[in-house]
Amino acid sequence: MKIEGQGALVTGASRGLGRALAELLGAKGARVAMIARDAGPLSDAVATIRARGGVAHGIVADIAAKDAVHKIAGQAQGLIGEIGIAIHNASTLGPVPLRLLLDTECEDLAAVLETNLVGPFRLTKILAGAMALRGEGVIVHISSDAAVEPYPTWGAYGISKAAQDHLSRVLAAELSGTGVRVLAVDPGEMDTKMHADAVPDADRKTLQRPADVAARIVAMIADEARAVSGVRLVAPSFEVAP
Ligand SMILES: NC(=O)c1ccc[n+]([C@@H]2O[C@H](COP(=O)([O-])OP(=O)(O)OC[C@H]3O[C@@H](n4cnc5c(N)ncnc54)[C@H](OP(=O)(O)O)[C@@H]3O)[C@@H](O)[C@H]2O)c1
Repeated sequence: MKIEGQGALVTGASRGLGRALAELLGAKGARVAMIARDAGPLSDAVATIRARGGVAHGIVADIAAKDAVHKIAGQAQGLIGEIGIAIHNASTLGPVPLRLLLDTECEDLAAVLETNLVGPFRLTKILAGAMALRGEGVIVHISSDAAVEPYPTWGAYGISKAAQDHLSRVLAAELSGTGVRVLAVDPGEMDTKMHADAVPDADRKTLQRPADVAARIVAMIADEARAVSGVRLVAPSFEVAP
């Protein structure tokens, strides 16, 4: 897929990986709709892209809110036109410090699933049909190694990411032949607020920079041959030309 000229929607785009993805997509000539709940950091991220000559708009919304998804999709289409790239990046760990699954309140598990699984699914239900009619589109779910490794205390988050991986596979199967690709991408460990919240004593020098991971994910979006629909990709293993 050619990135230039695409409409790209990125959730969780005010900091961390989402911001890096939005900045790179904007630099490559995509028109970017950026979603987050807190207006201040979002408007700062939008301004950075515009200052570099890119087209970017912020939409303040909570992806977990049932009544927000139509607003997100409608505003995004009004601002940037047809959406060719949708990146479900916004995510929550649930309560931190992380706790054992059996110590997790059912309401907290449900809230994690609303943000990490159900909200993205609601948004995809709105966007995927138009992509299929146009015969082109990429839907990316940002996953985690916690989707496949049963790390103690990462239960609510890991369950949501495992379910999101399978959501990706089923959507890919159902959209096969339409031109719409659905990818699940484990970004690997990155130096972000989420990582600091989960592992406050981590050695930050060992963590990837979000911008380096974003470069690999944008390369996946562009590379239909290597990033095939339905596949779960691991960003650090996806080689990109320097
Ligand atoms: N960091 C890592 O090491 C790591 C490892 C594996 C996977 N991941 C995955 O990578 C993705 C990005 O993580 P990150 O580390 O960059 O996170 P981050 O720094 O905490 O950024 C999260 C972004 O999502 C937004 N957000 C959170 N909840 C939202 C909601 N309900 N509605 C709309 N926006 C929301 C935040 O802004 P607001 O708070 O203003 O809404 C922020 O822009 C996530 O899917 C995460 O699970 C991260």
